[in-house]
Amino acid sequence: MSDETLGDPDALRREVEMIKWWHRIDLGRGIVTPGVDVTPQRLAEIRMPEILSGFTVLDIGAWDGFFSFEAEKRGARRVLATDSFCWNGGGWGTKAGFELARRALRSKVEDKWIEVLDLSPDTVGVFDLVLFLGVLYHMKHPLLALERVASVTGRHLIMQTQVDLVAVKRPAIAFYPTTELNGDPTNWSGPNPAAVIAMLHHVGFDRVEILSKSFPDDVPLDTIEVTRPNHITVHAWKGRENTTG
Ligand SMILES: C[S@@+](CC[C@H](N)C(=O)[O-])C[C@H]1O[C@@H](n2cnc3c(N)ncnc32)[C@H](O)[C@@H]1O
Repeated sequence: MSDETLGDPDALRREVEMIKWWHRIDLGRGIVTPGVDVTPQRLAEIRMPEILSGFTVLDIGAWDGFFSFEAEKRGARRVLATDSFCWNGGGWGTKAGFELARRALRSKVEDKWIEVLDLSPDTVGVFDLVLFLGVLYHMKHPLLALERVASVTGRHLIMQTQVDLVAVKRPAIAFYPTTELNGDPTNWSGPNPAAVIAMLHHVGFDRVEILSKSFPDDVPLDTIEVTRPNHITVHAWKGRENTTG
C-alpha cells in the first residue's frame, strides 16, 4: 500500500477488506477493522494505564497489534510488538493486519518476530510495561514461558489468560493434549487462578492482583470435569511501589 492509498479512504477500505482481522482497530476516517475479537470489551477488562508517557511497552503475541497501538496512543515512548505463530500465517491470520494498521495509523510501533521462549534481556531488552494477552494458554510450558516474560518485565505485567479448574483452590493446570479448548489444537494449558498467582510470584513478581474474571466465586466442584472458556485479567508488579497504574 502506498502513502497515496493511505490518504484515500476507499482504497484503504478495500485493503482492509482483503485481510482476515483478529482485532477491531479504529483506523480513522470511519474505518474500523472487522476483527472477530471483542477488542473494545477486552481493552476495558485489561485496564491498561490511561497515561503511559515515557514508558517502554512490550506486547507479546501482538497479532494485529491493537494493544500496541493503544499503548502508543497513551504516550508510551517506545512500543515493541512481537509474535511468531500468526505472523507466520500459522493460524488463520497473518501479519498483514499489523502492517496495514501500522501504516494507516502512521505508527512508530516496532516489530520483532520471536518465540515467547526466546524472550530475554539480550534478545529484546527489558520494558517498563509488558502485555501478555491471550498467549499463556497457547504455551506447552507455561511456567517456563512466565520465566521468560518476567525476565523482560522491568516493572508491570498485564496478562489475560484462559483459566480452567476454577473451582479448585490449590494451584492446578489443565492440560489440553488435543482440541479440548475451543476445538483449537494450539491451546495447551489452562491454569486455575491459584496457579496463575503462584507462578507469577515464583517467577519474581512481588504483587499480583486479579482485576477481572469471567466466572463467579462459587463455581461448584463438579465443574472440574468440563472445559469451559473462562478467563482472568491479572496485573503483576516487581517491587512494592506502583508507578504504572
Ligand atoms: C489469541 S491471540 C492473542 C492476540 C493478542 N495478544 C490479543 O490479546 O488479542 C494469541 C497470539 O499469541 C501468538 N503466539 C502463540 N504462540 C506463540 C509463541 N510460542 N510465541 C510467540 N507468540 C505466540 C499467536 O501468534 C497470536 O498472535
